[in-house]
Amino acid sequence: MISIEKGYVDEPIEEGIDVRSEIMRLKKEKNAVIMAHYYQRPEIQDIADYIGDSLALAQMAAKSEADVIVMCGVHFMGETAKILCPDKKVIVPDMSAGCSLADSCPAQEFAEFVKQHSGYTVISYVNTSAAVKAYTDIVVTSSNAKQIVESLPKEEKIIFGPDRNLGNYINSVTGREMLLWDGACHVHEQFSIQKIIDLKKLHGDAKVLVHPECRKPVQMIADKVGSTQALLNFAIDDECSTFIVATESGILHEMQKRCPQKTFIPAPPEDGKCSCNECAYMKLITLEKLYNSLKYELPEISVDEEIAKKAIKPIKRMLDISANLGIIKK
Ligand code: 13P
Ligand code: SF4
Repeated sequence: MISIEKGYVDEPIEEGIDVRSEIMRLKKEKNAVIMAHYYQRPEIQDIADYIGDSLALAQMAAKSEADVIVMCGVHFMGETAKILCPDKKVIVPDMSAGCSLADSCPAQEFAEFVKQHSGYTVISYVNTSAAVKAYTDIVVTSSNAKQIVESLPKEEKIIFGPDRNLGNYINSVTGREMLLWDGACHVHEQFSIQKIIDLKKLHGDAKVLVHPECRKPVQMIADKVGSTQALLNFAIDDECSTFIVATESGILHEMQKRCPQKTFIPAPPEDGKCSCNECAYMKLITLEKLYNSLKYELPEISVDEEIAKKAIKPIKRMLDISANLGIIKK
């Protein structure tokens, strides 16, 4: 019996095998597809069939023809894929890959909050559990939140959860007054304004790229505020050659690959000696765990049928609106 007690398959890797080629072989044999978020380790991004931000991963899962989806990301990303593809096997190589933002919004408390505000349209960020999505009218990601909010009538009363920074940002760019849930991502809230300003002094012509999950003062010193994908697109298109990047540092791998002649400097967090800011959950997934998860097809994501039936509606609504608004990936 294979144990996944630790959250992943803890089996020794056979001596002398080449893990990368074995992953490729197993993938073919099982008609599996590997999807990875931009915050994954470089070696995971490199071996994946698709890399993307939260929106792209949901879009890719929805149209996948594979039998097995290996989601190299965090738990809610696996859940979203499973809800969209109930007949496929969805695997997350380490089930302990959670999300502090999703954890800041417990389903029962959110349900109570929604109940207290009847008549409100409920918008939830994709970084939530399936149970929270079940209480939601429309799911959004940071790539489409502005357009989806703007697609609703001006007078519509809206609850937005769980990220207060993204919610405040969307309020400021749309002129809405959405009621916000008080949650946050521990990684994006950590960036140090002072350290970014110091880096700016060192690299005079550098532009500052900031994710909207960051605190407002950090957003205020940005040249560009946007989702992970939007920041990548900006770095590719802009003529500037140096960028200070205030989002999870995994994205620097793709930025550097796409723009080998440009310089990308990770923005440092407030505390610690680290010069970049990593999501410990995202980094839990390693090549060895990916290999074992494919080999044993474990650990598998499952979502309660009743919850999935409710949660699929707001996710599909997001995908439909995104397609209608032409929010497509590069
Ligand atoms: P995006 O992928 O939508 O930019 O979200 C960032 C994030 O924190 C994912 O966990
Ligand atoms: Fe969650 Fe933040 Fe990690 Fe994204 S970076 S998975 S929001 S904890």
